[in-house]
Amino acid sequence: MRWMGRLFMFFLVVCVMTILQLLITITHISQNAHQVRYNGNDNNFTAFTGITIVPSASPINQLVRECDKEYDSLLGIPQYVLDTNCSDCKDFMCKSFLFKGTNQSLFVRAQAFMKKHPKVKLPDQDFVDLASNCTEFKKSRGYHLEPINAEEASYPIAFNILLHTDLEQVEKLLRAIYRPQNIYCIHVDAKSPKTLHDGVRAVVNCFENVFIASKLEHIVYAGFSRLQADINCMHDLVQSSVPWKYLLNLAGLSFPLVTNAELVKVAKIYNGMNDIEGITRHILRSRFENEWTEVNGKQMKKTGRKNPKPPHDMDIVRGSAYGMFSREFVEFILNDQKAQDFLQWSKKTYSPDEHYWATLHHTWYNPHLHTPGGYSGYPDSKPWLAVYAAWGGRDKCAGMLKRGVCIFGIGDLQQLLKHREMFANKFYLSYQPLALECMENWIEYKTRCPVPFDEDYYKNIPFIKSKWKFW
Ligand SMILES: *[C@@H]1O[C@H](CO)[C@@H](O)[C@H](O)[C@H]1NC(C)=O
Ligand SMILES: *[C@@H]1O[C@H](CO)[C@@H](O)[C@H](O)[C@H]1NC(C)=O
Ligand SMILES: *[C@@H]1O[C@H](CO)[C@@H](O)[C@H](O)[C@H]1NC(C)=O
Ligand SMILES: *[C@@H]1O[C@H](CO)[C@@H](O)[C@H](O)[C@H]1NC(C)=O
Repeated sequence: MRWMGRLFMFFLVVCVMTILQLLITITHISQNAHQVRYNGNDNNFTAFTGITIVPSASPINQLVRECDKEYDSLLGIPQYVLDTNCSDCKDFMCKSFLFKGTNQSLFVRAQAFMKKHPKVKLPDQDFVDLASNCTEFKKSRGYHLEPINAEEASYPIAFNILLHTDLEQVEKLLRAIYRPQNIYCIHVDAKSPKTLHDGVRAVVNCFENVFIASKLEHIVYAGFSRLQADINCMHDLVQSSVPWKYLLNLAGLSFPLVTNAELVKVAKIYNGMNDIEGITRHILRSRFENEWTEVNGKQMKKTGRKNPKPPHDMDIVRGSAYGMFSREFVEFILNDQKAQDFLQWSKKTYSPDEHYWATLHHTWYNPHLHTPGGYSGYPDSKPWLAVYAAWGGRDKCAGMLKRGVCIFGIGDLQQLLKHREMFANKFYLSYQPLALECMENWIEYKTRCPVPFDEDYYKNIPFIKSKWKFW
């Protein structure tokens, strides 16, 4: 009878552990309300430990450290304003737009000023000229040619950047995230004009660690080609000699909210876990139950046929096209047979970039995938911190809405500074250029003069805390 006793004990242990597990999941779901996103409604800087140089009560220009004084000009009058010789704009300072305590009338005046002085776009051809002398190009544009600290030097990160237009803005993005230890794959839409391809090539040729994807897709909105572009870059990146540990895929019009050093801190805390959005409540079945095809290289249309069920009994989870992927996850995407079969199946779906990563990542529904860095908890109940986009109707937007997404304006900056995400999407250089320029200056400022960074927040998010889960 001893074996029965043992069997009983075994079941008891399993039951207890299951109950514990359920409790933990429930706690995560209930914690979710404040963990998904810092809601930022209180507009109270003391409550947000990420920005401590500007306590809510003190005047914004009272910076205390030597370093703050040295780089104070970064938070002063932006170049775009200086270029206009405006005599009435002495108070158009980035710190006033970025930090609390500013008279609203300043925003109104600055918005009127920007309307009156639209940004003149640099033609792609100018980049061919500018980058013809690489030494001069890198120096004059302020690229960081040395790692900022030893921690980031020993922790390379890979980036995919997709673009089809707006080289001037994408170059600002590249400059903000560029470090010599990292590696960057740029995918230029094959259907973009030759001038854009030439401009990108000129810039890329100035760097050892920035390259154009070896295979370029003709991208159709919501088509498989969009996903394939990212995967082309992944193929190239795993073959490079740079031992990168994480990959972030970026929209060309996004911009970082954290410095590279801060990103490395987060990646080290993630320690192999992916950061991928998971939505199961509004799954948009028509996107994959019907067969879709790219028509005339322009748009997606239903063929009228039905798609077979996903291979390997997979349950579809929806999410963003953007994420933060561990190297092991990227290798899994490229090499695992189930992942490959699923990719093949996704070719006839609508916007597969919005379910491919998410489905592979969420092992709550797909435990049989054994995904490296995957998340075994309930998909919808964890934060997703790779990219922040403000959706009309859900989030605040002081800028303008385009296709339901906020194009950030100067009125959004204070809010953005409170967000814990790595990147914000999107900015338009042509719309309220001060918004992007002050974000650029803020990131450069934090790079030069590190501000306290709330690592505990990242250590306590569910997908980090729940790593020991046993299913
Ligand atoms: C700001 O947050 C701190 C800490 O949470 C709190 O003590 C203080 O009362 C808040 N101030 C305002 C004006 O809400
Ligand atoms: C601003 O002033 C400089 C020097 O006085 C001049 O060269 C430049 O053309 C002026 N810019 C504008 C937009 O007026
Ligand atoms: C904001 O500025 C306007 C105009 O410059 C001024 O009339 C108003 O009193 C200011 N408001 C505050 C709260 O300082
Ligand atoms: C490139 O620019 C640098 C200054 O940054 C200059 O010293 C060098 O001579 C230039 N090279 C060429 C080929 O013009």
